[in-house]
Amino acid sequence: MNIRTVATTPFADQKPGTSGLRKKVAVFRTPHYLENFVQAVFDTIFDNAPAPAGSTLVLGGDGRYLNREAIQVILRMAAANGFGRVLVGQGGILSTPAASCVIRKYATFGGLILSASHNPGGPAGDFGIKYNTANGGPAPEKITDAIFARSKALTSYRIVEPADIDLDRPGQQMLGGMVVEIIDPVADYAELMESLFDFAVIRALVAGGFRLCFDAMHAVTGPYAREILERRLGAPAGSVINGVPLEDFGGGHPDPNLTYADQLVAIMYGKDAPDFGAASDGDGDRNMILGRGFFVTPSDSLAVIAANARLAPGYARGIAGIARSMPTSAAADRVAQKLGVPCFETPTGWKFFGNLMDAGRVTLCGEESFGTGSNHVREKDGLWAVLFWLNILAKRGQSVEQILEDHWAVFGRNVYSRHDHEALPTEVANGIMDQVRGAFPTLPGKAFGNYTVKVCDDFSYTDPIDGSVSTGQGLRIIFADGSRIVFRLSGTGTEGATLRVYLEAFEGDPARQRGDAQLLLAELIAIADEISGLKARSGRERPTVIT
Ligand code: G1P
Ligand code: ZN
Repeated sequence: MNIRTVATTPFADQKPGTSGLRKKVAVFRTPHYLENFVQAVFDTIFDNAPAPAGSTLVLGGDGRYLNREAIQVILRMAAANGFGRVLVGQGGILSTPAASCVIRKYATFGGLILSASHNPGGPAGDFGIKYNTANGGPAPEKITDAIFARSKALTSYRIVEPADIDLDRPGQQMLGGMVVEIIDPVADYAELMESLFDFAVIRALVAGGFRLCFDAMHAVTGPYAREILERRLGAPAGSVINGVPLEDFGGGHPDPNLTYADQLVAIMYGKDAPDFGAASDGDGDRNMILGRGFFVTPSDSLAVIAANARLAPGYARGIAGIARSMPTSAAADRVAQKLGVPCFETPTGWKFFGNLMDAGRVTLCGEESFGTGSNHVREKDGLWAVLFWLNILAKRGQSVEQILEDHWAVFGRNVYSRHDHEALPTEVANGIMDQVRGAFPTLPGKAFGNYTVKVCDDFSYTDPIDGSVSTGQGLRIIFADGSRIVFRLSGTGTEGATLRVYLEAFEGDPARQRGDAQLLLAELIAIADEISGLKARSGRERPTVIT
């Protein structure tokens, strides 16, 4: 098969963000755009040489618009770049955690995951591509920086002629000298889940009348949830809603939060609500957990999972440690302290957990942004969190709400909320950040009502394993009682700038723990506005999304 070398001019904007390169579909459709980036990845990981003989790549995505087309192009480029074998999820489907699982299980060279996570899909939506390394995790910054540098210097890419591999036919097909193997996207992942959780006890719970609703949001987890929750655990058909992956996610925003998962929220807060509700995002790495009329913040979810980890067979021997991203609440820290294990505070983004997991320093990781996971893979994992909760519920025989109340009674409650201000003009968002930064010298010791500022800083992190330093990771204002306000600009948005304000107040008094988070945080919310001038600068009265 002929390898063509196609002359190209580099693009200046192929810098992978928090989770890969994410752009509008129209941008990915620009001639050579996808090809250039893929070649930059291959050149980087193989140091501008062909792939070592026999190298295997994992390839799949969340099924969004352009997924199949992009897979055909990448297969042709993989063949031209010397790969021996590519494992592709049937129909082009692989959830992000399942891709991580397959990369690890078959000891491959790594994988390319096609997704823009929770961003909308379809011709007017977003597309994305992310390289994960052989450990199954997102490429670390030194690799993504090198990919970016390479993308700016690229003058050609290698590709074989169109082949039209049948992505729906299981088994092997040849592309030149390269084997394309279409694999069941669910099987390896489901087997891993069965090895971690007590499926028998969950099955008994479900058989006993416990009702659950899982919203796949027309995204990638549909087939996974149907196989695991309905077929293997016996939940009645229909327990999984929106279970067929669609190219445009049914026109929705596949982000499992209280705003976008409104169908599930209506069910869980409605009459005759099931006992347990959960949702996952576009590529299956996020999760939202709900009880009957009750929302579990992701920060609390991580803490509850940590406190109850021994109830799941895969974690029966205890956990080595916990890591959480900086803006995530300190609820997990309190559990770690009680368990006598370390708790690490890392910058936002799952890639910062990889080194800690590889070194065996932590077992559980979590982010406030609906991401929870463990060292079973190197990505956050939506269905894993759902199964962990089901395992805990089955073993404890309590409701979701009772479990949280018990947890707060023991550890106290870190009342928490995140306010997102989406699609702000970039200069407005920068102006707000500048105002906060500018106030830093005057803040320490300053009192705002009940809160006195202790310290403020721009968070930076030194990786304890490889010593790499990441700066500019969010503006923190920490008060004397441990309460916090954090300002941070999103690294994943594709329209203007998204400003995130994270609010956290500690409540140790059981009598006050039950209140609504927005009410309990009202004073901190007002302080955040006073320091940042947010309302005046943005001209907006309220956040786009509150979680
Ligand atoms: C967001 C979340 C972050 C998560 C990332 C990828 O990034 O806040 O925790 O790791 O998506 O799912 P952000 O847009 O804040 O940069
Ligand atoms: Zn995602």
